Amino acid sequence: MKAAEIRQTFLKFFESKGHTIVPSSPVVPGDDPTLLFTNAGMNQFKDVFLGFDKRPYTRATTAQKCIRAGGKHNDLENVGYTARHHTFFEMLGNFSFGDYFKRDALKYAWELLTEHFKLPKDKLWATVYAEDDEAYDIWVKEIGLPAERVVRIGDNKGARYASDNFWMMGDTGPCGPCSEIFYDHGPEVAGGPPGSPDADGDRYIEIWNNVFMQFNRTEDGQMHPLPKPSVDTGMGLERIAAVLQGVHSNYEIDLFVNLLAAAKQAVDVAGAKDCDPASPSLKVIADHIRACSFTVADGVIPGNEGRGYVLRRICRRAIRHGYKLGARAPFFHRLVPALVKEMGEAYPELRQQQERITDVLKQEEERFFQTIANGMEILESALATLAQAGKSELDGETAFKLHDTYGFPLDLTADVCRERGVTVDAAGFDAAMARQREQARAAGKFKMAQGLEYAGVPTTFHGYDKLVHEQCQVVAVYVDGTAVPSARAGDDAVIVLDHTPFYAESGGQVGDTGELRNNTSRFLVEDTQKIQADVYGHHGRVVEGEIKVGDTVSARVDGEKRARTVRNHSATHLMHKALREVLGPHVQQKGSLVTPERTRFDFSHHAPLTAEEIRRIEALVNAEILANADTQARVMPIEEAQKLGAMMLFGEKYGDQVRVLDIGTSRELCGGTHVRRTGDIGLFKIVSEGGVAAGIRRIEAVTGDNALAYLQSLESTVQQTASTLKATPAELQKRVSQVLEQVRSLEKEVATLKARLAAAQGDELLAQAVDVKGLKVLAATLDGADAKALRETMDKLKDKLKSAAIVLAAVDGGKVQLAAGVTPDATAKVKAGELVNFVAQQVGGKGGGKPDMAMAGGTEPAKLGPALASVQGWVAERL
Ligand code: ALA
Repeated sequence: MKAAEIRQTFLKFFESKGHTIVPSSPVVPGDDPTLLFTNAGMNQFKDVFLGFDKRPYTRATTAQKCIRAGGKHNDLENVGYTARHHTFFEMLGNFSFGDYFKRDALKYAWELLTEHFKLPKDKLWATVYAEDDEAYDIWVKEIGLPAERVVRIGDNKGARYASDNFWMMGDTGPCGPCSEIFYDHGPEVAGGPPGSPDADGDRYIEIWNNVFMQFNRTEDGQMHPLPKPSVDTGMGLERIAAVLQGVHSNYEIDLFVNLLAAAKQAVDVAGAKDCDPASPSLKVIADHIRACSFTVADGVIPGNEGRGYVLRRICRRAIRHGYKLGARAPFFHRLVPALVKEMGEAYPELRQQQERITDVLKQEEERFFQTIANGMEILESALATLAQAGKSELDGETAFKLHDTYGFPLDLTADVCRERGVTVDAAGFDAAMARQREQARAAGKFKMAQGLEYAGVPTTFHGYDKLVHEQCQVVAVYVDGTAVPSARAGDDAVIVLDHTPFYAESGGQVGDTGELRNNTSRFLVEDTQKIQADVYGHHGRVVEGEIKVGDTVSARVDGEKRARTVRNHSATHLMHKALREVLGPHVQQKGSLVTPERTRFDFSHHAPLTAEEIRRIEALVNAEILANADTQARVMPIEEAQKLGAMMLFGEKYGDQVRVLDIGTSRELCGGTHVRRTGDIGLFKIVSEGGVAAGIRRIEAVTGDNALAYLQSLESTVQQTASTLKATPAELQKRVSQVLEQVRSLEKEVATLKARLAAAQGDELLAQAVDVKGLKVLAATLDGADAKALRETMDKLKDKLKSAAIVLAAVDGGKVQLAAGVTPDATAKVKAGELVNFVAQQVGGKGGGKPDMAMAGGTEPAKLGPALASVQGWVAERL
C-alpha cells in the first residue's frame, strides 16, 4: 500500500466512525507561544481539550505535518542513525473531545490495524501506563492480546508522570497516560521488546500512540483535570508505511525512494562522485529537505533565533552531510522539485511556493558554503589533536568558535564528533556562549509569560462597535503574576473584566490603551493582551484608589490611538490586495505589525520594489479610499468563507466560525478592528521599502493624520532647502544642478591655482638649494600643496637643479606630507626612498619608494623644522 493510500484509508476509516476530517494546520503554530513547531496532531485542538474552544464535532481525524527538531520533542540527533526517526513526518490521528474514551480508542485502533491494514495479530504488542489497569484489561480481556505482549511501563524517566507511557505536549498543556502499539519487525532485526534494556533497537517499532487526555499541566507542575476525558492518537505515516510495504526502514518506503535518488544525484553534480547510495548521509539529506521545505513554506526563514535558528540548524546539518560525501557546491535546494513531485499533491503549499522555497534554501546554502571548508578544517585539526592525545572530548571554546565564526551550530559539530566517537563539552560551549549571549535571548521568548492562572468567565468583547463600556465587572486582578484580591495606587497590575471594549493584541494589531475608572479609582491601561483565547488582560497601573475583584468600572479606550490603529489596519488590507495586483499572486503576508503610528507589512517577493511599483500601489489604495465603500464584517463557517474567496493568512489558527472582512475590494479573514468606510483612512502613503530576509520584503506605510504629518515634514525640508538656495520649491532641482555645476568648476579652478602657486614657490626655492660636494641639496616646505602639487614641483626643481637631492613637505592640519626626489646621476649613492623615510621617521611617520622619487606621511608637524634641517648632513654622509 502506497503512503498516499494509507493516509486516505486512515482518514476514511475514522470518517466512517463519525469523525470529521480536518485539514493539517501549518507546522508553525498560529498563536501558541509555548510551542516552537507543531509536534503532534493534537496541537491544533489544544484549546478544545482544555475546554476553551468548541467545535461543531466531538470526533475528528487528521493527517498532520509535524516537526520534531526542537523543544520537548526533538528527534534531530537520531535522524540518519535509526531506521525510524525524522525531523519532519506526517502524523495520522483520531481525536475524541469528551466523546469516546479508552475502550473505543483501542478497539478502533485494533480494527484498523488488523482488519483494514491486515497486520498479523501475532506481530503486535502494546504498552500501557503501569497504573492503568483499565487499558490493560481492555487489551487482554476484551481485545484478546496475550498478556505477555502487553507491557506495563511506569515512571521510567525519573519523576512522577515522567514515563514513556504518559504523554505531554510540552512542559505545559493537555496530557495523560497512553497506550502504545508496537510492531515486531522480526528476529532478523536487532532490538528488544518495549520496556526491555535493548528496546531502542529497530526490531520492535512503536507505530501508534493512543493518549488518554485527562489533565492540563500548568507551569508550576500541577495537574488539573480536563473538563472531559478525551482521546488523542498519533500514528507516524512513515512507520506504518514501512510495515505495510514490508521494509524495515522508513527510508525504504515509496515516499523516500525518489527523494533518496534525488539526493544522490544532487550531491553527485556538486562533486560527490560515486558516493555510496546506502550512505546514512543521503538519508539525513532526504529527511531534512522535507523539514526545511515545509518550514519555509509555512513562513520561516533561516535566522539566528527561535524557529529561524532551528531551520538553519537542520539546513546546515544536511549541507554538512553533503559536504561529507564530497559536495563542494550548493546541492540541497536542488531536491525541492523531487519533494514537490512526491508530496505536492497532498500539500499544495509546496507546489505553490516551490520557487520561493528553492530560493530561500539556496541562499542559506551559498552562505554556509562560504565558511564550511574553513570550519571543517579547524574541526578536523582539533579532532586530530584529540586523537593524538588519546582524548575524546572536544573543548567548548573550539565548538563555540566554530559556531560563532564559521556558522557551525553546536549539534552540527556534535554530529561530526559523534562519527569519531568524540563528545563535545557542552557546558564549556555554554560558558563561552554566555559571554556573547544577550543577543540570542530571543529564542527564550518561547518560554515567555505563560498565561496567568485563570478559570473564571470569558471576556465579552464589545470593541468592534464601541470604545466605552460602562458596568464592566473586575473578575480578576494580578500583581507580579499572582492573582490578588485588589491592587492599590502605584501597583502595576493586570485586570480581567467580564466585558470590555479593549482590543487585545492579535493578528498583528497592537492591544488598546485607555483607562478603567469608577468613583474612587482609576487604572491606566497601557496594553491589552489575551490571557486565554477569550480572556482579556488589561495591563497597566493603578493611579488612584484601589481596584478590587468584584468592582464595577467603566472602560474607556483611548479613541485617538484606536482610530489611528484602525486606519493603519484597514489600509494594510487594501495594500495587501494592491501588492498582489501590482506584483503578482505570489505575494503572501509573512508578518505584520499595526500600531497607531504605522503599519509594517512583510511579504514574499524576490526583488526590491521600483519607484513606479510603489506609486501604483499607493494609487490603488488611495483610489479605494476615495471610493469610500462601507466596510462589512460577517461571521460564517470557514468553508463558506473559502467559497467566497476570502484571503486566509499563514500561521493563523482559524476556528470553524471565521470573521470575513470586506474592505473596498479586499476580502480577508480578520478578527481586527477596522474603519467603517474606506474614506475614514483619509490618505495612504508608503514611507519605506526594504528587504528583511531572503525573498521577504517589508513595507512601512502611514495613514490619516500620520500621512499628513509625514508629507508636511517632507514639504518643510524641501522649503527650507529651497530657501537656503534662494529658490522656490519648483526651481529646486534646477538650482541644485546649477550649484553642483558651479562647485565642479570652482574645484577645477582651485586645482589650477594650487599648481600655479606651487610652481611659483618652487622658483623661489631654487635659491635655497645648498651645494654639498657638487650635489644641490634642498629641503623645504611648500605651503598649501597637496600630494600632486608636491610631485609636480619636485619634477620641476629636479629639471632646474639638474643634479640634486630634494625633500619637499606640506602641512595640512595635523598631517605632514613628504616627497623626496633625487636626480638620476646621484641615485647610486643617495636613494629617495631612504631619504624620505629618514625624514618621515622624525615626524612620526614612515615611507619609502623608488630611488628617484618617494612619498611619505607623518603626524607630528611640530618636528618638521629640525627634520628638514637634518637632510643636508644625511646627504653629505652618503657622498
Ligand atoms: N499526541 C500523541 C503523540 O504525539 C498521540 O504521540
